Amino acid sequence: MERLYNFSAGPAVLPREVLEQARDELVNWQGCGMSVMEMSHRGKEYMGIQAQAEADLRELMGIPANYKVLFLQGGASSQFAMVPMNLYREKGGKASADYLNTGEWSKKAIKEAKKFGAVNVVASSEDKNFSYAPTQDAWKLDPNAAYVHYTPNETIGGVEIFWTPETGDIPLVADMSSTILSRPIDVSKFGLIYAGAQKNIGPAGVTLVIVRDDLIGQVLPGTPTMFDYKTHSENESMYNTPPTYGIYIAGMVFKLLKAKGGLAAMEQTNRLKAGLLYDYLDATDFYNSPVARDNRSLMNIPFTLKDAALDEEFLKGAKARNLVQLKGHRSVGGMRASIYNAMPVEGVQALVDYMKEFEKSRA
Ligand SMILES: Cc1ncc(COP(=O)(O)O)c(C=O)c1O
Repeated sequence: MERLYNFSAGPAVLPREVLEQARDELVNWQGCGMSVMEMSHRGKEYMGIQAQAEADLRELMGIPANYKVLFLQGGASSQFAMVPMNLYREKGGKASADYLNTGEWSKKAIKEAKKFGAVNVVASSEDKNFSYAPTQDAWKLDPNAAYVHYTPNETIGGVEIFWTPETGDIPLVADMSSTILSRPIDVSKFGLIYAGAQKNIGPAGVTLVIVRDDLIGQVLPGTPTMFDYKTHSENESMYNTPPTYGIYIAGMVFKLLKAKGGLAAMEQTNRLKAGLLYDYLDATDFYNSPVARDNRSLMNIPFTLKDAALDEEFLKGAKARNLVQLKGHRSVGGMRASIYNAMPVEGVQALVDYMKEFEKSRA
């Protein structure tokens, strides 16, 4: 079977070039006589792979030298707990953190943080079904907050924040799971960035953390060793066995993105791809985009059919054209097209062509 256009939110489409290289190297990596999967993580071959992956990521994202890059496990969901365990500090007689609530992933992060300290929700878009992100003038920041957490791209709602919040001396923490590597960002504006790999980075199983080094080393009492960033930063992410194969694939993705012109080039292509879909959604009333214009995600594009009774038929027709995983998240329904870096322009064009055809067939 030819490859499908896979619009899954994650695990998601990976670059074909990377999969092909992995296939070619699967059994015998660069003539060393074994697969990357079989290598000791302390051997010179594997350590070289991981060091190169980190160096390429640093170059791609422009990560300053005073930031640590950690390759962890446990998914972004574990970071919902690790962030408070590592960053809660008492200030002004209390330990409290600021959280912006823009959707399902923000809510999960908030729920977890509350196990470790107080949470001040600076603003929420729940009043409008999480269809937008409150601008910073509407946030009620606490001057004594230990950190400020937000989700720059809500993967389920398709709500993206394209500006970086100003938090002064208070560390800014971002769950970048579904936006990382899609466009350039200024890492120096953040205290900590985390992301599950299974969208723009590589296979599920790797969790990336980029953390300013002065924030490491003051965990809450009782924090398990494995949940302390210090454990991993002092050991080059090799305190225990890292997810070696996933890091190897991620390293190939980083190299490919560099060769394609880096994150500025990614942003250009991503804007082009998202534009194809949004322009059509704006031009028709057969489909609807539920997200406020300023917050329309470049990566995850939810849309609904005016007549929800046609949803199943729409999905069936899409599948027949090799367009798969378009069903919206179970919590919101409708459709969602996730168009990460590795989704080719042709895939988005094929989706728009099919949407037009489906609309016409119903006229
Ligand atoms: C924005 C966001 N945060 C957190 C998660 C949870 O990630 P994981 O499954 O790696 O724990 C996801 C997963 O899709 C996500 O999109």
